[in-house]
Amino acid sequence: MTLTLTEMAVEVLTTADGRAKTALSHQHAAAWFASRKSGHPIPVGTANPPLRPARPEKPELLDPRDVPRRRPGSVQGRMAILHAVAHIELNAVDLHWDIIARFGHIPMPIGFYDDWVKSADEESKHFNLVCDRLEAMGSHYGALPAHAGMWRAAEDTAEDLFGRLAVVPMVLEARGLDVTPGMIKVFQNAKQQDVVDALSVIYAEEVGHVAYGSKWFHFLCGRHEKDPKDMFHDLVRTYFHGALKPPFNEEKRAEAGLPPDFYWPLADETPPAHVRS
Ligand SMILES: [Fe+2]
Ligand SMILES: [Fe+2]
Repeated sequence: MTLTLTEMAVEVLTTADGRAKTALSHQHAAAWFASRKSGHPIPVGTANPPLRPARPEKPELLDPRDVPRRRPGSVQGRMAILHAVAHIELNAVDLHWDIIARFGHIPMPIGFYDDWVKSADEESKHFNLVCDRLEAMGSHYGALPAHAGMWRAAEDTAEDLFGRLAVVPMVLEARGLDVTPGMIKVFQNAKQQDVVDALSVIYAEEVGHVAYGSKWFHFLCGRHEKDPKDMFHDLVRTYFHGALKPPFNEEKRAEAGLPPDFYWPLADETPPAHVRS
């Protein structure tokens, strides 16, 4: 039986184990792109994704306030950083398949699916890269508690494709662009070149995910004759809890199609003079 793309997405979402989920994600992405190349793309179809994806028994999911903080100067601290990144990557795999499964009823150009399948495949690679580094350090994904709130944005925007694009790629993944260089520095200082290399792959590919978000957000705004900047501000204020946190990686955000007047008005600080003038 051949699955539709949205059915493939549901299969990934309902697989709990991280390594198994990401292997399936890679397999389905390869099938999608092979079908695209052959000129007979797998039909998108429609499906009923679960409200929350299946997750392994470990890590234990805690309120962010209860997740213990560790100093980046220690080995334990660096393992905790990598563990948090692995958790983010696993969520990202599900988020990209979820946008495909959740909004299959909204007609979109086929490039929309190409972009999110490619992103999901990259997140799967990121999860495995980070898990490999964690295991090389003597730990593993599941060894520490992780943030429970990571799926909240997906649930809040389950009925709103505009909101999903605004909050997930254009706020949450853009935040990754802001914080990853600092993380890379931590591992440079610790002379863990293998981790630096893994995080550098992630950093380079995440620009693409933010860019896909911006591209399809602008596309949808155009389809509905909405002003993208005003829409973005309204949606982030509706669905995202709290202000955006500077400093922003303005260069990479620009590369991803996010101009300063999108995010600065949502920040909890007055923008520097060069942004206002
Ligand atoms: Fe990623
Ligand atoms: Fe991503």
